[in-house]
Amino acid sequence: MRLILLGAPGAGKGTQANFIKEKFGIPQISTGDMLRAAVKAGTPLGLEAKAIMDAGGLVRDDIIIGLVKERIAQPDAANGFLFDGFPRTIPQAEAMVAAGVDIDFVVEIDVPDAAIVERMAGRRVHMASGRTYHVKFNPPKVEGRDDVTGEELIQRDDDREDTVLKRLQVYHEQTAVLVGFYGKMAASGDAKAPRYVKVNGTQAVEKVRDDV
Ligand code: AP5
Ligand code: ZN
Repeated sequence: MRLILLGAPGAGKGTQANFIKEKFGIPQISTGDMLRAAVKAGTPLGLEAKAIMDAGGLVRDDIIIGLVKERIAQPDAANGFLFDGFPRTIPQAEAMVAAGVDIDFVVEIDVPDAAIVERMAGRRVHMASGRTYHVKFNPPKVEGRDDVTGEELIQRDDDREDTVLKRLQVYHEQTAVLVGFYGKMAASGDAKAPRYVKVNGTQAVEKVRDDV
């Protein structure tokens, strides 16, 4: 099973990815998590990506496409995977088509911009695993601590309000076109085309999970 989770920053891609990867036993491939790991490790990629991410921009397509191709060649991705935050531009989506990477489902999590800023302000993450919480909507069992490891939760550097607004703008300019890109593919009737599913992401986490 190969899936793409599509949605604005803060739509709940990472939150739902957690459920999907468990249910289907497939790895979550989050380009955002990969970039944050590179930033933390201080690699050349991380050094380049940090400034772009903090400004709410997108890392160059060729870099991202290279990262993803390398990742899906790993043995754990042989039986499928879940893309979270990738593709994010038409060239990224086209690179997968050109590489013959057929997708079974594209799941769009739909949340209006107005709800996003509050979600981001309250988001807390466990960096090592990528597990995501919200102080109000999805609180951890112990305040400020990861449910599994008990380690400290942090706030992402790009969750400042001005950066969030910039990320939303970039989403509408460069990523939202993928709704049409995959919608058209799905409607083509081609046997290899993905099925397109749109879910209302403003519902409670568990309701969104059930709909997905
Ligand atoms: P990335 O890490 O992909 O960030 P994003 O797409 O902006 O998405 P987020 O991780 O912010 O949100 P999410 O949809 O996962 O929501 P979450 O589940 O956490 O990318 C970061 C940066 O890396 C980019 O800006 C770019 O610079 C770079 N990058 C990454 N991929 C790239 C690519 N392919 N090309 C180029 N550059 C790339 O939920 C958010 C909050 O809401 C949480 O607190 C959560 O608990 C809460 N929440 C979730 N669901 C619900 C619900 N149903 N109700 C209430 N609250 C909810
Ligand atoms: Zn995420």
